[in-house]
Amino acid sequence: MYLTKEEERVYDGEHGWAYQTAMKILVKVGDLFGATKLIPIESAHISGVSYKTIGDSPIEFLKALVQAGARSNVVATINPAGLDYELLSDMIFSSAIQGKQSLILGLYEKMGVNPVLTCTPYYIRKPRKATHLAWAESSAVIYANSLLGAWTNREGAPSALSAALIGKTPDYGMHRPENRQANIRVKVETELRNEAEVGALGIHLGKILKDKVPVLEGLRNPKEVDLKQMGAAMASSGMTSIFHLCSTYPKGSEKLESLTVERKDLKETFESLSTTHREPDMVFIGCPHCSFNELTQIAKLIKGKKVSEDIRFWACTSRYVREKSADYVKMIEGAGGKVVSDTCAVVTWLKELGVDVLMTNSAKTAYYAPTLNKVEVAFAPMAQCVDTLYH
Ligand code: F3S
Repeated sequence: MYLTKEEERVYDGEHGWAYQTAMKILVKVGDLFGATKLIPIESAHISGVSYKTIGDSPIEFLKALVQAGARSNVVATINPAGLDYELLSDMIFSSAIQGKQSLILGLYEKMGVNPVLTCTPYYIRKPRKATHLAWAESSAVIYANSLLGAWTNREGAPSALSAALIGKTPDYGMHRPENRQANIRVKVETELRNEAEVGALGIHLGKILKDKVPVLEGLRNPKEVDLKQMGAAMASSGMTSIFHLCSTYPKGSEKLESLTVERKDLKETFESLSTTHREPDMVFIGCPHCSFNELTQIAKLIKGKKVSEDIRFWACTSRYVREKSADYVKMIEGAGGKVVSDTCAVVTWLKELGVDVLMTNSAKTAYYAPTLNKVEVAFAPMAQCVDTLYH
């Protein structure tokens, strides 16, 4: 990979160990994927924050970076942590766990990273169209590429952090226009009745597409939340980082390979996302973290009702959106639910909270939770999830 004189100096260690290490990581990744140069980025979003998912191993590395003076060179944000410090009474985790999580957050903050603790950083600060980013968190990557027109690869935690420190990323994959072009037509030949069905479509497509770039036909007036769910799901069961929408196929696309999705495909995937018919211990909405509109929708559904004492209800969102939605938060919490920030059901210690059965409207959570959280899952649209809370 070609490096400028200044980049070479960083590579050779003239700016210290932390930046040298970051540069070496970027060069390694760039060489691996055939990049010829580094390009400047507008922002970085870093995953690998919850102590539940990363454990102890990366802590020493983060400490060493901080001790060596590492500071982010661009706007940098982080993914959810393992707990919400303002809801500790609800979290009941040991002080050792709380201490380790605080240590991780403190290390990121010392590197100048903004602790937004959300997987939807785009609701806080929307990247400009056609700007290059280095984001980890697959749901945010596919959202940024497909719905915001920004350009980012699906980074891992070390490469996103390295990109934040250097302010650059290797020029390959989604940063190259030729790789963003659709190479498969997807014809959706069934009606999608709610966000859960759109999420199930995402899981179905992710499994088939792997890292292909689809152009989708047949989604009638999809809402932002539907597309967020579909993208998050598609990036969970596959490696797709971008999708295109089209009511009619773009010029030239008639030559592309094509794929049809029928009701039976959707039904099969939808049903596979539930592993139980048992009553849930927890209902979770907010994967990816809720937008202002989703919190509004939940508040309207729950208004004037009372959540049963034997069910926890979590609506997860960023602290930023929570603060912007004070009236709706009051309505949800008045009914006995919790609007939880900084974490989510997947990256927290669900079993320690006494959860064996989780109900959710998120296809991504339903896909991951049985393995990552060892819980049974009931998958259903938001309205049905909220309805379950009163039984
Ligand atoms: Fe976000 Fe947690 Fe889902 S980090 S994308 S809410 S698994």
